[in-house]
Amino acid sequence: MDKFVINGGRKLHGDVRISGAKNAAVAIIPAAILAEDICRIENVPNINDVTSIARILQEMGAVIRMVNKSTLEIDSRHINSPVASYDLVRHMRASYYLLGALLGRFSHAKVALPGGCNFGVRPIDQHLKGFMALGAEYKLEGGMVNVSADHLTGNNVYLDVVSVGATMNIMLAAVKADGMTVIENAAREPHIVDLANFLNSMGADVRGAGTDIIKIRGVKQMKGATYSIIPDQIEAGTYMAAVAAAGGDITVHDVIPKHLESITAKLEEMGVEITEYDEAIRVVREKPLAKCNIKTMPHPGFPTDMQPQIAAVLCLADGTSIINENVWDNRFRYVEELRRLGAQISVDGKIAVIEGVKELVGAPVKAMDLRAGAAMVVAGLAARGVTEIENIEYIERGYENIVEKLQGLGADIRRVYFPEASVAQAL
Ligand code: EPZ
Repeated sequence: MDKFVINGGRKLHGDVRISGAKNAAVAIIPAAILAEDICRIENVPNINDVTSIARILQEMGAVIRMVNKSTLEIDSRHINSPVASYDLVRHMRASYYLLGALLGRFSHAKVALPGGCNFGVRPIDQHLKGFMALGAEYKLEGGMVNVSADHLTGNNVYLDVVSVGATMNIMLAAVKADGMTVIENAAREPHIVDLANFLNSMGADVRGAGTDIIKIRGVKQMKGATYSIIPDQIEAGTYMAAVAAAGGDITVHDVIPKHLESITAKLEEMGVEITEYDEAIRVVREKPLAKCNIKTMPHPGFPTDMQPQIAAVLCLADGTSIINENVWDNRFRYVEELRRLGAQISVDGKIAVIEGVKELVGAPVKAMDLRAGAAMVVAGLAARGVTEIENIEYIERGYENIVEKLQGLGADIRRVYFPEASVAQAL
């Protein structure tokens, strides 16, 4: 198996470029199913989740051409079945966007129940509530969700929970429905605005994305479009956390500073110096870190996808910090692994209490999920000695070229192949 091997305790210096946003790309690529012509999508991150969703579309008959390493041309005119491949789909949480896109195009969709990171229950009841409001019915059979409607009619949908996935999925199903759909209590993340902008570039009529009320007036047809995906706010935040933990002076390029406001605010509270430019942000950490409290919230609050990474930083802050995880039921599975590096953290339900320590010491750890894995990298960069990280496939689902990007900042990190310890050797 492959592992990341980090020789930590070195400050980071230099420049890093941010790739396109994973959580925008995994919705925008399926959205191309709605177009009656070719879509050209630029600034696509080269990560496994994107490869998986593209492969599912190809399996369904789409023709996808890699124009270059970050540009795809998608021709979905030859997709003639609303059924997505079970095996590929069940391992990916974001595959649920196929439901909305296929329903929007065919008034029918049959997709495996989503898989994905396992931190708490990951229901889709709000997605289904939205589809039913548009006139669809659904059945759960054989691990598949089967959603169909004679035709889709616009309606009002009030989301009981602020849900990124449900907001995006209902948009996808509603863009060609008859009449007006209003989503209330909608999620406001940057990737939701990105999807709305892509849909509008194909001829949809989506207004209000980025606020908690989104209005979608159905259109008869949607054409091909060329669109560039926004930078990944969580990838950028992860590099900001890395230099906060390890110390040093880096500049993060190709970002939208406004998308990073809540992360910037918290790092500044910890004593990190941050300078914003038009499309870059400079992060300097020379002083000891001060403690601070974090409450994760839907955007524009502090993003839950930065919670494990910021916890790794707070392990080294002076004093006691408290993290409230308000979005997911059980997003502290990484704490056990941080303890192996010497962290002093106690967890009670949705609250983690972190007692800062003078230093972390390298040890073998596991990535428990995508962002938990990112937290192991952040902690390993700061820890004295060697940290080996297993299950790096989780990390590579969401971080393009993370080893090369960190090496570019002076980190001593390598991807190393460890032959599986065979039973014979063990005997
Ligand atoms: C998206 O997941 C992201 N994934 C997650 O990022 C992110 O943590 C999450 O949004 C919140 O920002 C993708 O975009 C692929 P939700 P999603 O629906 O859409 C509850 C990462 O690290 N809920 O906003 O699945 C749910 O249980 C990943 O990149 C319902 O109750 O999240 C949770 O408590 C991890 N019913 C809360 O809402 C539903 O029908 C927020 O979930 C849907 C959600």
